[in-house]
Amino acid sequence: MARKRILSGMQPTGELHLGNYLGALKNWVNLQADYDCFFCVVDQHAITVSYDNKALPKLVDDLAISYLAGGVDPSRSTVFVQSAVPEHTELAWYLATVTQYGELGRMTQFKDKSEQTGAEAGASAALFTYPVLMAADILIYKATHVPVGDDQTQHLELARNAAQRFNSRFKKGFFPEPQGLYSATPRIMGLDGHKKMSKSLGNHIGMLEEPKPLWKKLAGAYTDPQRTTQDEPGRPELCNLFRMHTALTAADRLPVIAEQCRSAAFGCGHCKKELEASLDRELAPMRERAKELRANPERLREILGDGAAKARAVARETLREVRELMGIRGPSL
Ligand code: TYM
Repeated sequence: MARKRILSGMQPTGELHLGNYLGALKNWVNLQADYDCFFCVVDQHAITVSYDNKALPKLVDDLAISYLAGGVDPSRSTVFVQSAVPEHTELAWYLATVTQYGELGRMTQFKDKSEQTGAEAGASAALFTYPVLMAADILIYKATHVPVGDDQTQHLELARNAAQRFNSRFKKGFFPEPQGLYSATPRIMGLDGHKKMSKSLGNHIGMLEEPKPLWKKLAGAYTDPQRTTQDEPGRPELCNLFRMHTALTAADRLPVIAEQCRSAAFGCGHCKKELEASLDRELAPMRERAKELRANPERLREILGDGAAKARAVARETLREVRELMGIRGPSL
């Protein structure tokens, strides 16, 4: 039987942070052994809000470097840039015909992002239809699974609805209904503890951040909101930093750290120091790999070129079938 297939992507909007890493990228790396994986830099999603066109090409390369530095292995997974496979945007148009306007209007990310940039009415039509392009990213590879953080759940539901409607209108079972795959830490909170970690809120720690600034941020990070002094017992189950420990620190240390917190044997500073050590163990080799990749742009071009060719071969075939099912002639006729 064919291996199950994964597609996932991230927007090239600046350095990856620990939320992206612990919510998604680390999971991608682990899943490579068991799934046929497609990992994409979604540059066409990044232009749905105001952006710097001069900076975008470098942001795309930086994100691809972060995927590879984080452990995505191009000899096992297909790594490519969305715009190098123009079939995604064509499929998005076809999927828009089986997506409801009301459904798009209910997307909370659309509401949040359009509020950040002003009123909903002034948001771009591309921001509104963003989830349709995301559905196309997934369905063009007939992906069965999508590893993401929990903020993408609503978008995945829309992708499933589009697949269902397409199948019932044109061909039963044509598209799989893609399921989310979540890590044990699907939502990492920001350093301020109030909202999820995100670059736009500036409450993040970079995945490739150097040790000194990393420690400065970690030292100031929010922990259990009710633990206001060192002598009070903490609640690890509510603490964002304990959540990070669960993803990064050796399993046999976790009950010890939790107990030190609950019994107030140690303060949060102690727990943060141990987290710093765990982070350094995980991130130091990534910083090294990123440096090597930055010094070898030809290698990056080669990886992305090969990835685009592999992705395109699959995408073309799906699109050929879709056009045929929908009665669309397409360029070859
Ligand atoms: P993006 O670029 O906002 O985020 C990339 C990935 O990181 C996850 N993530 C988090 N996980 C845990 N805690 C956090 N604080 C946190 N912040 C971000 C996101 O859930 C995501 O998995 N729409 C997508 C990009 C996309 C896509 C796709 C994803 C486009 N096409 C097809 C999957 C499949 C997005 O904006 O992710």
